[in-house]
Amino acid sequence: MKALVYQGPRDVRVKEVPDAKIERPTDVLVKITVTNICGSDLHMYEGRTDMETGRILGHENLGEVVEVGNAVDRIKIGDRVCLPFNIGCGFCKNCERGLTGFCLTANPGTAGAAYGFAGMGPYSGGQAEYLRVPYADFNCLKLPPDAQEKENDYVMLSDIFPTGYHATELAGVRPGESVVIYGAGPVGLMAAHSAAIKGASKIMVVDTHKDRLALAEKAGAIPIDDSDGSCVDQILALTKGQGADRGCECVGYQCCDKHRNEVPNLTMNNLVKTVRATGGIGVVGVFIAEDPGAKDELAKQGQMAFDFGQFWMKGQKIGTGQSNVKAYNRPLRDLIEAGKAKPSFIVSHELPLDQAPEAYKNFDERKDGWTKVLLRPGA
Ligand SMILES: NC(=O)c1ccc[n+]([C@@H]2O[C@H](COP(=O)([O-])OP(=O)(O)OC[C@H]3O[C@@H](n4cnc5c(N)ncnc54)[C@H](O)[C@@H]3O)[C@@H](O)[C@H]2O)c1
Ligand SMILES: [Zn+2]
Ligand SMILES: [Zn+2]
Repeated sequence: MKALVYQGPRDVRVKEVPDAKIERPTDVLVKITVTNICGSDLHMYEGRTDMETGRILGHENLGEVVEVGNAVDRIKIGDRVCLPFNIGCGFCKNCERGLTGFCLTANPGTAGAAYGFAGMGPYSGGQAEYLRVPYADFNCLKLPPDAQEKENDYVMLSDIFPTGYHATELAGVRPGESVVIYGAGPVGLMAAHSAAIKGASKIMVVDTHKDRLALAEKAGAIPIDDSDGSCVDQILALTKGQGADRGCECVGYQCCDKHRNEVPNLTMNNLVKTVRATGGIGVVGVFIAEDPGAKDELAKQGQMAFDFGQFWMKGQKIGTGQSNVKAYNRPLRDLIEAGKAKPSFIVSHELPLDQAPEAYKNFDERKDGWTKVLLRPGA
């Protein structure tokens, strides 16, 4: 089959590789119809993780089931399914409680497994013609009859829609509250969409890219352009000097100042400044345990100078980590089916798999208009 293979920093190629196949009786095999490029792929693409060369990328996958293992009960050939990027077993201590981003079975020795992901187990990604799905009865989200018509919406259930929603959950967003979101990438835009669905009274989204800020506005948010580094003042001015009730970090360890230089503690400390006393902060942007490629000495060891004193004085709360996609994807699917959520508003490109290397390059450069790329291996 054809698949997108990681060859080394900024070098991905579409190659012929051995077909994905059923390896355990609880697996199914999915023919991928659509698979997205994610901001998380870029950390690997840029060589800023310990991703092994030769591995297939892709963790935002949707397709049709073409083969089922002997022990699979619920999922049938022909089902259209969306796969959470995290692989859960369904029976460990964390999965039982809905914390499927921290499964203790699927990647022994670590909490959390995913497709085509550095440090998240040996599973191949879905930027390919076929994908092996472990613990398939648990992991497959079955899609309703409008699966094909709304495919660009449903594919967002694999990661970024539940992840944006998770940011609002970690922050504790409730109806009527104000929210500031750092990052107008796909995840930040999904956090804005989720905050709007939850009934937030004021949503502010910070970035420097005008095309992405325009989409934030489309999602019902106030765009905050940080091109001159004034986002803190702008947010305080919009919140009577007190800060927002809730804040979401949707950028991660490669966050930048107005000159696009990496300053790893910038968004975290801006959140402390722009969330009100006793407010909540949800961090879904990725921070990693070590980052040898960082210029900053602390960041090389996965550390940062965090304004803990101010955080403590303000009595703020913080929640972090991978999204537990399974905890949210079913109700978010039902909102899409009911026409009450439309996450596809961020899609900028739909391309055949062969064009993935070029798409990675453009998305990585945050080129104007490259917000979210969908790859279609069958096209
Ligand atoms: N926790 C999870 O489960 C999960 C899931 C998916 C993605 N992620 C992570 O979420 C983050 C965002 O993903 P994405 O796909 O939206 O990526 P992206 O890189 O496309 O978007 C990030 C955006 O942040 C902006 N930005 C940079 N510095 C900033 C700053 N100082 N203030 C405000 N905005 C700033 C960039 O201009 C960019 O538009 C990444 O770290 C990704 O790995 C986490
Ligand atoms: Zn993703
Ligand atoms: Zn588990």
